Amino acid sequence: MDVLIHLFVGLHIIGIAALLGGFLFQLKAIGPGEARVSPGMWHGALTMLLTGMILVGLNQADDNPVNNLKIGIKTAVLVVVMALVYLQRDEERVPAPLFTAIGALTTVNIFVAVLWTS
Ligand code: HEM
Repeated sequence: MDVLIHLFVGLHIIGIAALLGGFLFQLKAIGPGEARVSPGMWHGALTMLLTGMILVGLNQADDNPVNNLKIGIKTAVLVVVMALVYLQRDEERVPAPLFTAIGALTTVNIFVAVLWTS
């Protein structure tokens, strides 16, 4: 079971790479308001949700403690990110504050994940 959990943590991290990578790749385009949501960002966000839910299930099945508050916060933040990504997916120019929010909230979730260890 440990190998399976680690495998899904790996897939979870690939999801972050797709979502945050799409944001970082366009840092220079944010200022002039020319950033776009790439399809990979949506797929990355979906991957985060799916692998996150599977990780909760696998950890519960393995009797590992699951911090429900931490997972709840990460899910709530991801839902906001997914709403922004989905609503802006067809826009050719995403306003700077909205595009920045996608990257900032994803970064918040990374630090919630790695700093909240209890
Ligand atoms: C943008 C959204 C997300 C980011 C950036 C993120 C980030 C991370 C990172 C970096 C890890 C590995 C570090 C660690 O093991 O503590 C991790 C693990 C994990 N994530 Fe996420 N995550 C996100 C969304 C979610 C969601 C929505 C769920 C649940 C529905 C979830 C559930 C988990 C679980 C169960 C683990 C295994 C370790 C633990 O219990 O903390 N994640 N996440």
